[in-house]
Amino acid sequence: MIDLLESQNINKNLIKDVENFLKNNTVDKNFEDRIPKPRFNYYGKEVLEMAITSILESNNLLLVGPKATGKNVLCDNLSYIFQRPQWNISFHVNTDSESLIGMDTLKSDEVVFRPGPILEAATNGGFCIFDEINMAKNDSVAIMHSVLDYRRIIDIPGIKKIDIDDKSRFIATMNYGYAGTREINEALLSRFFVIDMPPTTEDTLDKILKKEFSLNEKSQKMFIRFFMDLQEKSLNSEISGRCIDLRGLIASIHAIKRGLSIKSSLKIGIVNKTFDQFEKAIVSDIIDTIFSDEMKPEEIFE
Ligand SMILES: Nc1ncnc2c1ncn2[C@@H]1O[C@H](COP(=O)(O)OP(=O)(O)OP(=O)(O)O)[C@@H](O)[C@H]1O
Ligand SMILES: [Mg+2]
Repeated sequence: MIDLLESQNINKNLIKDVENFLKNNTVDKNFEDRIPKPRFNYYGKEVLEMAITSILESNNLLLVGPKATGKNVLCDNLSYIFQRPQWNISFHVNTDSESLIGMDTLKSDEVVFRPGPILEAATNGGFCIFDEINMAKNDSVAIMHSVLDYRRIIDIPGIKKIDIDDKSRFIATMNYGYAGTREINEALLSRFFVIDMPPTTEDTLDKILKKEFSLNEKSQKMFIRFFMDLQEKSLNSEISGRCIDLRGLIASIHAIKRGLSIKSSLKIGIVNKTFDQFEKAIVSDIIDTIFSDEMKPEEIFE
């Protein structure tokens, strides 16, 4: 992982500080299996530097951005870089305080307290991921206010007072513009360092595709051009953001690798993510101008 940081020219002093963090903070064997092994590397020098600085500064971090901008990939990369066990909470309207903090349960006729993910992360130096924090309802927002306070103490009525471990961090992700998402309130927001996840650049996409596939040079360029064209059309409001789906693009290329035609693969991975016929036509047009019908699936790989 340090190699990944060096290859992206991350500030050398930051890398040194990460190495010092690792030297001074070993991992409890019991939680080793909670350190994620990231499925993807996160690419983006500025975002990595901002995120690593936040963690070193003991700040809570909020990652804001549309779908498939690498929010969860970054969370996993950070847990891995700092070798910290991770607890993950996916917020939904029914997330209540008990599922966050813990609850009393019966164990062989005895009442025992079973800690929830926040307490586990807080006491074991873990990184706690608040995924889609803006889906949280008031009950859990109140808990987070207390947990994210600078005093680093969890003091919630009915639970013994707990000091948050020096190594514990809270990292939230937030999507905006979807049905069902709410605005996050200012008091909660002020408890975070906030990173706006940038749109995908040509350079990032080049790295992501190179790491994931061995496309030949010509097709590599075609897929990059396709995605950049889509993104540009969306930024110009000619189409919505529905088809701007890096996750979908990667999945489509995997489908092509399995032998499905390029156009069918892009149809299920990208085009059909919009339900608007007009928009579908625009996206299909871009595909038709870049990829010819004669191109065979196996021809795009090295
Ligand atoms: N900067 C990046 N570096 C590496 N991978 C990226 C980057 N941006 C997007 N991706 C790719 O996007 C895909 C989705 O990533 P991830 O699940 O982290 O997105 P997300 O922002 O959490 O999306 P959602 O809001 O839909 O949950 C992955 O396949 C990942 O490889
Ligand atoms: Mg996500």
